[in-house]
Amino acid sequence: MLIDTHSHIDMENFEPRFDEVLKNAKQNDVEKVVIPGVEPSGFKKISEICEKYENIYGAVGVHPEEVNSFNEKAEELIKKYLKNPKIIAVGEIGLDYYWDKSQIEKQKEIFERQILIAKEAQKPVLVHDREAHQDSFEILKRTKANEIGVVMHCFSGSPEFAMECIKEGFYIALGGVVTFKNAKKVKEVAKIIPLDRLLLETDAPYMAPVPYRGKENEPAYVKYVAQEIANLRNISYEEVAETTTNNAKKLLKI
Ligand code: NI
Repeated sequence: MLIDTHSHIDMENFEPRFDEVLKNAKQNDVEKVVIPGVEPSGFKKISEICEKYENIYGAVGVHPEEVNSFNEKAEELIKKYLKNPKIIAVGEIGLDYYWDKSQIEKQKEIFERQILIAKEAQKPVLVHDREAHQDSFEILKRTKANEIGVVMHCFSGSPEFAMECIKEGFYIALGGVVTFKNAKKVKEVAKIIPLDRLLLETDAPYMAPVPYRGKENEPAYVKYVAQEIANLRNISYEEVAETTTNNAKKLLKI
């Protein structure tokens, strides 16, 4: 069994074939899926999907590219949805210096604010860190975010940075990128991190693994991520599946 810990199946692209996507997931060993939040207007749909489907869980949070949608009202909404037991984390939150460098201070402030909300709710954080490793790490460390649990989603740092995160108690989530031929750093990370800190994800509809690279991603494809990690570590697919599923269950309490 597998768990896709980060999948944007609430996005409109999936609407026409939502049930088919869930059926594919089930047929391909996927037991549970977590939908991360991106901005406040999407929280309602996520929580409705979670209510309707037993094996789907959600998170609420404001993505670093959406910082302009963070205000007092958004904060109240996040707190409100966190009372729902199917909303199991705060995310995706973090820093993204790749797309937009103009609001770095605002990104940092909102990231930290949302970590504190997660701490109040005693739920883990799903972290988006793109080209902002140093600052993300510093904020997570200073706020002692590891007390509630930290997932470094779509990990893109060096093997050294991965080990720094492991030392802090963070989890590393890997997705389709690990199957890309040129993704040397991510492959190395997949090899060296302790298996008990690894989570699997798709980040669907983005980042589809080989052999679907460039196409629309979906939860069913998380098995290719598991298989690649098994190959890289020279262990069985079953061991990767079982351990990462147990890790997700333990950390996310699902
Ligand atoms: Ni995402």
